[in-house]
Amino acid sequence: MASIRQDARDFGDRLNAMIFEQEKIFLARQPNSARNQGRAERSLAGGTTSSWQIHRPQAIWISHGVGSKVYDVDGNEYVDMHGGYGAMLVGHAHPLVAGAIAERAFRGTHFAQPTEDAVTVAENLASRFGLPQWRFENSGTEATMDAIHLMRAYTGRDLIIKVEGSYHGHHDSVQVSVYQEPPDIGPADAPASVAASSGIPQAIVALTKIVPFNDLAALERLLEANSDSIAGMIIEPVMMNLGIIPPDQGYLEGVRTLTREHGVLLAFDEVKTGLTTGYGGITKLYGIEPDIVCLAKSLGGGVPCGAIGGTHELMDFIASGGYEQVGTFNGNPLTMAAARAVLTQVLDETAYNRIEQLRKLLATGAEAIIREFELPAYVRTIGAKGAIIFSPTPLRNYRDFLAVDNRFSHAHWLFQHNGGVFLPPWGKAEQWTVSVQHTVEDAERFLANFREFATALVA
Ligand SMILES: Cc1ncc(COP(=O)(O)O)c(C=O)c1O
Repeated sequence: MASIRQDARDFGDRLNAMIFEQEKIFLARQPNSARNQGRAERSLAGGTTSSWQIHRPQAIWISHGVGSKVYDVDGNEYVDMHGGYGAMLVGHAHPLVAGAIAERAFRGTHFAQPTEDAVTVAENLASRFGLPQWRFENSGTEATMDAIHLMRAYTGRDLIIKVEGSYHGHHDSVQVSVYQEPPDIGPADAPASVAASSGIPQAIVALTKIVPFNDLAALERLLEANSDSIAGMIIEPVMMNLGIIPPDQGYLEGVRTLTREHGVLLAFDEVKTGLTTGYGGITKLYGIEPDIVCLAKSLGGGVPCGAIGGTHELMDFIASGGYEQVGTFNGNPLTMAAARAVLTQVLDETAYNRIEQLRKLLATGAEAIIREFELPAYVRTIGAKGAIIFSPTPLRNYRDFLAVDNRFSHAHWLFQHNGGVFLPPWGKAEQWTVSVQHTVEDAERFLANFREFATALVA
């Protein structure tokens, strides 16, 4: 057996060959997807409904999903560990969630007036995240956008702080320094603010100051240099758009202390981590008190949703008209019915125990394979989330992440896909999500595919 000590170029050649082979298999299995794509390209820009649904070698067109499985339009079955970018924590067509949606659909789905479910959802979120008041949104982007508007409106300041490499959605203030490459990104301990997308004016980019993750000294320097002009900081408390990067011990506590000392508000973006990492997300797990929590994704059980929770002070500012948090579809009855079922009927202690059992199985199984094949990789899991990170040493921030060869993740993704497990595309940036409907057999299918990948890699 070859070992991790063989030189990097050998792995590169091997990975290129594996990707070539597996992409051929992938395309051969999906002629109907290719046909749909051809038709779609005439009426949908790029043949798809979001630019991030376009990925190599081609978009996968889905027919339906039930329980832990999804089925493509060619009839292939997959254990779904993509979960629609982590939104499907309840699994597909969960009877309680589908039932709540159906029942609501037959009583009217939209009035732009509140329904009782909204109060039940807000009360439940307050008990999970420890923030007393809530408002609803239609996506994670809207949640982080309102969080930033609110922090600016409340403090009367323009600057915000964001962590390098974090993704918080596609509005202007956070489309800064997401996946940028050298040489534009500046020094590691004082990253530059760089537009992460076209269409973002430089004047707005300049209002977002960037810090490296897990670096309290850099945060302190930035806060001291701009103490009177920073409204707030937004942070994903466990970074989940760089695989999975946890905070160093004491980092989140340090962020909370420093922001308080400088009179700067703190928003936790728990759009991904929210309900997937535990009953009250990272906020509860780490016992930190942010001023705002942003949620979306798994809250709606597959229906578009978002939410922000805040302290009395901040939410009173909304209540008194200091900031108008608005939207035609906010608190939409269909979304609220789905969220009510998700929170009060599905995501209970039994569900989290089941997820924990699967987490352990996947983590220990994958770790054993990494050891057996001496792969330059490690496993990170937390709650329903997990990733195999193809780096011999643990990643602590975006600069570490940049150095990881994405071909490992793409080749692994292809092996899983052709072996009937649907991981999220976008390689090293993403992680799996298991649902409350996943089974031990599902986890075993993942591990069997990972073993095949490892075997091919070191052959
Ligand atoms: C941490 C985080 N925040 C915000 C968003 C934006 O959410 P949405 O795609 O629902 O707008 C995402 C999306 O992936 C995310 O991962």
